[in-house]
Amino acid sequence: MKALQYQRYGGPDQLREVEVPRPTPAPGQILVKVAASSVNPIDWKLHNGSFRFVKPVKMPSTPGFDIAGEIVQVGADVTQHHAGDLIYAMLDSKTGGADAEYAVVGEAAAAPMPAGIKWQEAAGIPLAGLTALQALRDKGQLTAGQRVLVVGASGGVGHYAVQIARALGAHVTGVCSTDNVDMVKGLGATEVIDYKKQSGFGSETHYDVVFDTIGASRFGDYTPAMTQDTVYVCTLPNLSLIAHALVLPVYSKRRIKMVMVNSSGEDLKYLTNLVEQNKLRTVIDRVFPLEELHLAHELNQQGRTAGKIIVNVGNRDNPA
Ligand SMILES: NC(=O)c1ccc[n+]([C@@H]2O[C@H](COP(=O)([O-])OP(=O)(O)OC[C@H]3O[C@@H](n4cnc5c(N)ncnc54)[C@H](OP(=O)(O)O)[C@@H]3O)[C@@H](O)[C@H]2O)c1
Repeated sequence: MKALQYQRYGGPDQLREVEVPRPTPAPGQILVKVAASSVNPIDWKLHNGSFRFVKPVKMPSTPGFDIAGEIVQVGADVTQHHAGDLIYAMLDSKTGGADAEYAVVGEAAAAPMPAGIKWQEAAGIPLAGLTALQALRDKGQLTAGQRVLVVGASGGVGHYAVQIARALGAHVTGVCSTDNVDMVKGLGATEVIDYKKQSGFGSETHYDVVFDTIGASRFGDYTPAMTQDTVYVCTLPNLSLIAHALVLPVYSKRRIKMVMVNSSGEDLKYLTNLVEQNKLRTVIDRVFPLEELHLAHELNQQGRTAGKIIVNVGNRDNPA
C-alpha cells in the first residue's frame, strides 16, 4: 500500500512516498481503508524531534492520528464493528499511521461515521474534537450558563471548542485575529476578542473556564478576567505552569489543568451526536492529496490554520 513516511527526524521535506505492506489487524483491532485524514500540529512536532526525549519516534514513521474510512477486515475478538462499516477514529497515540491507504486501530477507538457528512469533514474531528471535548467537559467541568473563554478559537481545537461549549449551554467568548472574527462568531461565540486590536482579556467579564489552546499568554495575563474559582485548562503545559498548578491550591480556589487527549470511541459518539444535531461542524481550511502531505505540514507549521487541514486519500466517493 501507499504511505507517506518520515525517514528520519526533520521537517516536512523528510516526507517520502513509499510502498509498505498492508497492516494486519491484531486481536481487538480493525483494518480501515482510509478515505481522508487530517493534520494536527503533533504530527510534525513528533517528527521534527521536539519530543524525542519524552516521546521518541521509531523511524521510518507514518504520521497522522485522524482517519475516516471503511472497515475492510476485523481482527479476532472484535465485536462492535464489521467489514463494510464506515467509521472515524483517532489512532493510537503511540503509533499514528493515518497518512496511508490503510490503517489499523483498536475497535474501542472507532465510532460510526456521523450521518450526512463527508469523509473530509469527519476526518477533521477525532484528535482536535476529542481534545476540545475532554478539555471543556472533563477538565473544565463546563456547565450550562457558565462563561468560557476559548483562546485560539479559530484553530483546529479551538473551533470545535467554541461549538462544544455552545452545545453545553455556555456563553462563549473566542480569542482570534481580525481575519477570523466572523468565522468564530459564526460558530457560536457571543463575543470575540480580536487579539490584534486588544491586548489582554478584559476585566469586566469573569470566566468560569479559560481554555487556552495556544499558550502564547501567561496564566497571570488571564487573572483579571477570572472568578475566584476559575478553571484554566491548557493544551501546552510548560514547566513553570506545571509548578504553578502544584502550588496554586495552597492559596487559591482557582485551578490549572492540562488536557492530554485520549482516543475514545465513546467520546467520538458524543461528538457524532452533536454533528447529527447540527451543533458541530468542521471548517475546512485546505485539502491536500496524500502525495502533497509535506505541503499540508508546512502550511500547518505557519500557525495560521483556520479550522482543519484535510488530507484526501484515494479520492473515494462520499457516503450516501
Ligand atoms: N495536549 C493535547 O492533548 C493536545 C491536543 C491537541 C492539540 N494540542 C496542541 O494545541 C495547540 C493547538 O492545536 P490546534 O490543532 O488547534 O492548532 P492549529 O489549528 O494549528 O492552530 C492554529 C490557530 O492558532 C491561532 N493562533 C495563533 N496564535 C494565536 C494567538 N496568539 N492567540 C489566539 N490564537 C492564535 C491561529 O489563529 P489566528 O490566525 O487568528 O491567529 C490559528 O487559527 C498545538 O500546539 C497542539 O500541539 C495539544
